[in-house]
Amino acid sequence: MPIIASNFKTNHTRKTTKEYIEKLNNYLKNSSIKNEVLVFPTSTSFDSFYTVSSLEIGAQNAYCTNNGSFTGEIGLEQLEEFNIKTILIGHSERRHILSESQEDIAKKYEFYKQQGFKIVYCIGEPLEVKNQGLEKILEYIFEQFIGIDINYSNLILAYEPVWAIGTGVTATNEDIEKIHSAIKEKISKPLLYGGSVKVENVRDICQIANVDGALIGTASWKVEDFIQIIENTKDLK
Ligand code: PGA
Repeated sequence: MPIIASNFKTNHTRKTTKEYIEKLNNYLKNSSIKNEVLVFPTSTSFDSFYTVSSLEIGAQNAYCTNNGSFTGEIGLEQLEEFNIKTILIGHSERRHILSESQEDIAKKYEFYKQQGFKIVYCIGEPLEVKNQGLEKILEYIFEQFIGIDINYSNLILAYEPVWAIGTGVTATNEDIEKIHSAIKEKISKPLLYGGSVKVENVRDICQIANVDGALIGTASWKVEDFIQIIENTKDLK
């Protein structure tokens, strides 16, 4: 059963997040969906949501601390208030726009691993690396595992080529298959694909060998579309 995840990024308010989660819950409850569904809202929208058992709410980011003086950040204490036990680490927007280094990311990973969090760990190459061919792509991707315990039991990976994120350009099925199988050869963990996944292509993508689900941004922000994405994959193995 594919794992289906929605990354809200900097979208939705507290009010619209609540409405979204209520609608999604209703759908999941009434259609007895067995997919593992994850939603990463903004941290200002966290609440003590009632969720059905297949739905988990996660954090898009948090600092590697319980609390303290880290202006603009939230830590474990703020996540625990809402019983959040899932976190996205290494997303390309944090690596490239917010300039998180591999060292910062590895520290964050270690901290939340120690807390037993489910970690969705993102990797992926920028366009200039893609243009250098498969060998370079894999070299780049495996460097994103420096300092990361790949044997952690509560780890999900997400391969998200940077050039495919939010651009409408999806990697070809052949590329996804090649890269996913190369990653899987070394790391035996669930591996999602992300980068312009949408209602129309999610089923095909989730059927590629070694793809265990999808991490979706833009196309998941309307709850009706996200529900359709789950519908389109619910019967897959
Ligand atoms: P996208 O984003 O679906 O808008 O390409 C994916 C992601 O960044 O997780």
